[in-house]
Amino acid sequence: MAAIRRLTSAAIRARKHDLTQSRFAVVTAYDAPFARCAEEAGIDVILVGDSLGMVVLGYESTAPVELADMCRAGGAVARATARAHVIVDMPLGSYQASDEDAIRSAVALVKAGATSVKLEGGEAVAPRIAAIVRAGIPVVGHIGVLPQTAAMGAGFRRKTDAAQMLADARAVESAGAFSIVLEMVDPEVALEITASLAIPTIGIGAGAECDAQVLVMHDLLGLYPDAPPFAKRYAEVATIVTEAFRAYAREVREGAFPPVLTTPGNDRAAPLSDAPVYAIPAKPV
Ligand code: KIV
Repeated sequence: MAAIRRLTSAAIRARKHDLTQSRFAVVTAYDAPFARCAEEAGIDVILVGDSLGMVVLGYESTAPVELADMCRAGGAVARATARAHVIVDMPLGSYQASDEDAIRSAVALVKAGATSVKLEGGEAVAPRIAAIVRAGIPVVGHIGVLPQTAAMGAGFRRKTDAAQMLADARAVESAGAFSIVLEMVDPEVALEITASLAIPTIGIGAGAECDAQVLVMHDLLGLYPDAPPFAKRYAEVATIVTEAFRAYAREVREGAFPPVLTTPGNDRAAPLSDAPVYAIPAKPV
């Protein structure tokens, strides 16, 4: 088996000051085949987001996602990749109650395959970030729109409160995070945060001035019908898949797949299409 040498959190942090490597792309993945595609495409930071709840599991929000879901998905992504840094989201309920809970959850994700973990919140979760970092596990912060709790209070509106966003970003950095996601932060505010932090900012719906961008893979591949307006669609994969399923179903209906055996005595032997036909030699009598 080839050696696994993953991009480290220190190397990602160092990109902040390396102009040749700033502006990097992050994509989400939740299973082995798509993680393989991301790494093959040269994307070396993969986020196993709890967006899994909506784009894979069919929930209306990320709130119902369990730690076991994230361990399962994180493990699949890690097993399918060798160089990528695999950030795995800590789901709602896995870090709120206490530092001990947060450390226990982060350890479970690392045992499953995570290279680092991500949790939502600014000043309020800084102590949790510090506790996980003290336990030796690299952490990515996430401020702005916080999907795990947005529906219960702060909402999904773009964040324009520069003072609060800056305070949150600074608290996350001071707690020891090596990078931070800015979700739907006003682009001017995102620029100010990016300029004032020593760790890379990863934007989603936060303008072009962040150090990196992240997109949910189902949004960029055209696999999720409710993609947000800021997510550019790079392919229409749902259309390709639907067409392939339609062609398969038609061929089964018409007897074109699988190829019909020409065994003597088989009265269904007349092939219905040009598909290759495999002949089975008759048994000697
Ligand atoms: O869960 C997720 O995919 C995320 C991104 C939206 C940043 O947290």
